[in-house]
Amino acid sequence: MNVLILGSGGREHALAWKIRQSADCEKLFVAPGNAGTAVIAINVAIDPNDFNAVQQHCLSNQIEMVMVGPEEPLVNGIYDFFKQTDSLKHIHIIGPSRAAAQLEGSKAFAKAFMQRHNIPTAAYGEFTEDNLSEGISYIRNHALPIVLKADGLAAGKGVLICETHEEAIVEFRQMILNAKFGSASKKVVVESFLSGIELSVFAMTDGHSFVLLPEAKDYKRIGEGDTGLNTGGMGAVSPVPFADAAFMEKVSERIVQPTIDGLATESLVYEGIVFFGLIKVGDDPFVIEYNCRFGDPETEVVLPRIENDFLAMLLAISQKRVHEISLQTSSLAAVTVMAVSGGYPAEYQKGIEINGLSKLASSDSLVFHAGTTNFENKVVTNGGRVLAVTSYANDIDMAAKKSNLALNEINFDGMYFRTDIGYEFKK
Ligand code: AMP
Ligand code: GLY
Repeated sequence: MNVLILGSGGREHALAWKIRQSADCEKLFVAPGNAGTAVIAINVAIDPNDFNAVQQHCLSNQIEMVMVGPEEPLVNGIYDFFKQTDSLKHIHIIGPSRAAAQLEGSKAFAKAFMQRHNIPTAAYGEFTEDNLSEGISYIRNHALPIVLKADGLAAGKGVLICETHEEAIVEFRQMILNAKFGSASKKVVVESFLSGIELSVFAMTDGHSFVLLPEAKDYKRIGEGDTGLNTGGMGAVSPVPFADAAFMEKVSERIVQPTIDGLATESLVYEGIVFFGLIKVGDDPFVIEYNCRFGDPETEVVLPRIENDFLAMLLAISQKRVHEISLQTSSLAAVTVMAVSGGYPAEYQKGIEINGLSKLASSDSLVFHAGTTNFENKVVTNGGRVLAVTSYANDIDMAAKKSNLALNEINFDGMYFRTDIGYEFKK
């Protein structure tokens, strides 16, 4: 089967690495891909949001399976585009329909969905210019801190945690009246702050049944000890030690099952991955957010722990046979550490040569490329997050040490990585 993966990050390199291992994978394409995917697949210079270009590529290359990495094409309706286009209908496309992708595309939609299905999440209100003054009094009477969320996609930046009512009101007005996050913040969700520890849970679903994939925890802050600015993710670990069987049972019963049932009863077609951004408050799980795709860098630890043929799992989604999947998970811990460009998450340069990659060719760490490209026969930086190095070991501590050691073999001007990924789980 010829397969096309859409996207260009570490998540997509990990997907390509895993799908490539399947005996059923013939030609593998990544659009647009990076210097890492170029080694194991064929990169094609197509923007995943250009559906007509994706269509052309699928038809010219007899593509039978499309795995969508990022949220944007899904929220823009790429699943529906395939299902509604005669020449593409036969292709297995992995992802939710546009209607179901609103779980990520609209925070207000996700909150109302959770409320309808009694799924535990923070209490909230939703406001626009039309009920602005109602929103301001809602905030005035709200306990501190107050969480403000832009309704739409804001590239992970649309959430503000305000410590005072005054700050919250200023920001709230900025979001709605001055388009602080563009059109994404025309509508704002105001919600209660939940205090606890976060984790990421992934369910693979055909819209009826689901399998829970290995859970993960990502590290979003740029600085050691979870300090400084938020990033796209500086590293991840799997498994998550506090997510024991009793806790995961609660996650499954209170959150995952009602979500899948809710999608089915509301006829929201979903043939892909549901990403539950959860927080453990006391002993109980609550939903912070839904995403309609795999996480990055979580994928770089989740896929390496799955022992099944992943292409066969994707096919089972499309053929509504997810109930037949028997997941085989490695008992080893996996830790990925992200090397980023100097200055990230603020301004940074691109096009800087990366040295030392060949030294890791024979190591047992996996080097997933994120923001890289080929230029004049060199691998150069092409983004803020540059490389994700994943290692396995018997525990998180050892796996993290291996990833750090591997990263010491690599260098590029300005390179930075956190050396404390998984710190709270070390002995
Ligand atoms: P989101 O984009 O919804 O994932 O929010 C980004 C981050 O903001 C989350 O990963 C949490 O760390 C934090 N956050 C969002 N909502 C809440 C909440 N209700 N209580 C506490 N922290 C939150
Ligand atoms: N690691 C969080 C995300 O992919 O959104």
